[in-house]
Amino acid sequence: MEELETAISADGIVRSFGSNTAVDGVSLSVARGEVYGFLGPNGAGKTTLTRVLCTLITPSAGHAQVAGYDVAREPDKVRLRIGVALQDAALDDRQSGTEMLALQGRFYGLSAVATRTRVAELTDLIDIGDALGQRIGTYSGGMKRRLDLALALVHDPEVLFLDEPTTGLDPVSRARVWQEVRRLNVELGMTVFLTTQYLEEADELAGRIGIINKGKLVAEGTPSELKRTIGTDVIIVRLGSAVNDAQTALEKLEHVQRIDISGTTLTLSVTDGPGSISPVAVTLASVPNADVRELTLRQPSLDDVFLSVTGEHIRRSDNSNIGTGSTVGQTETRTT
Ligand SMILES: Nc1ncnc2c1ncn2[C@@H]1O[C@H](COP(=O)(O)OP(=O)(O)O)[C@@H](O)[C@H]1O
Ligand SMILES: [Mg+2]
Repeated sequence: MEELETAISADGIVRSFGSNTAVDGVSLSVARGEVYGFLGPNGAGKTTLTRVLCTLITPSAGHAQVAGYDVAREPDKVRLRIGVALQDAALDDRQSGTEMLALQGRFYGLSAVATRTRVAELTDLIDIGDALGQRIGTYSGGMKRRLDLALALVHDPEVLFLDEPTTGLDPVSRARVWQEVRRLNVELGMTVFLTTQYLEEADELAGRIGIINKGKLVAEGTPSELKRTIGTDVIIVRLGSAVNDAQTALEKLEHVQRIDISGTTLTLSVTDGPGSISPVAVTLASVPNADVRELTLRQPSLDDVFLSVTGEHIRRSDNSNIGTGSTVGQTETRTT
């Protein structure tokens, strides 16, 4: 078969559910061998676009090609060439991992021998170990996630779709999934389309990131390109009061490119961080009642990118067991 440069191309994809437009005109392109991170908060449309690209639902408008075939016109050809691990893995608790892998192999028309060979390769890769012979009902969440990944890989797909592969996993399981995704990409050259609501995950794994919000692709680029769009540095100012007066005064400073306000916190994008901190401090001192609680200089993060393209705020997922993750979301507060 002819080697394709483009693994995934979507052109103006729209998908509505009744009057709700879940995906609202998304165009994107993923090159072969790329890891593309599709980043956005809950309800942004990540799963819906993934399901369109995987031929599970048809688009309301637009076209998409995956592995060289049109998802609407030749879904069977697409399906043979993709692996899919969706957010809610449909695993049968009464079966063992080995049984499910064998079933999946037969489903894709592999011989019993070919399936066994492939499963042997995968157990190495996925590292579920002895548990593979046990009933899935006894598996931890992380093991289920890895088995689901193995199931998506039985037929050696060209393109792998992972829908929030680490949501709800503990930090150790999460790190293992990251490692596996990297290995699949680096060692086997597999193209990966991965959705996530974790900024670190996209930053860590993806060569290129598309940020989706309310069904629209609002920014796209490599992690460093996206961060560079913010300006070179970020100054965080947390005040006790007088937020508007401080904003008016700070806007006049030479290096301040933009100011985003979240409650009493001002996030300043500045072209020269070290050179700006002193003028910012002096300016704040001149604002009556500003009451500076915090003044921090840092490098821009994907959080800042998300904030600048959506105008919405970012929260730390400190109320879950995710550990290191910040998620994109709609909450009004920012705690650091
Ligand atoms: N099967 C469905 N029927 C009706 N509405 C849906 C369906 N699937 C998704 N939606 C809606 O589409 C929007 C996007 O959902 P989804 O693609 O699941 O977002 P994400 O995966 O980014 O959390 C949401 O408003 C959701 O309620
Ligand atoms: Mg989803």
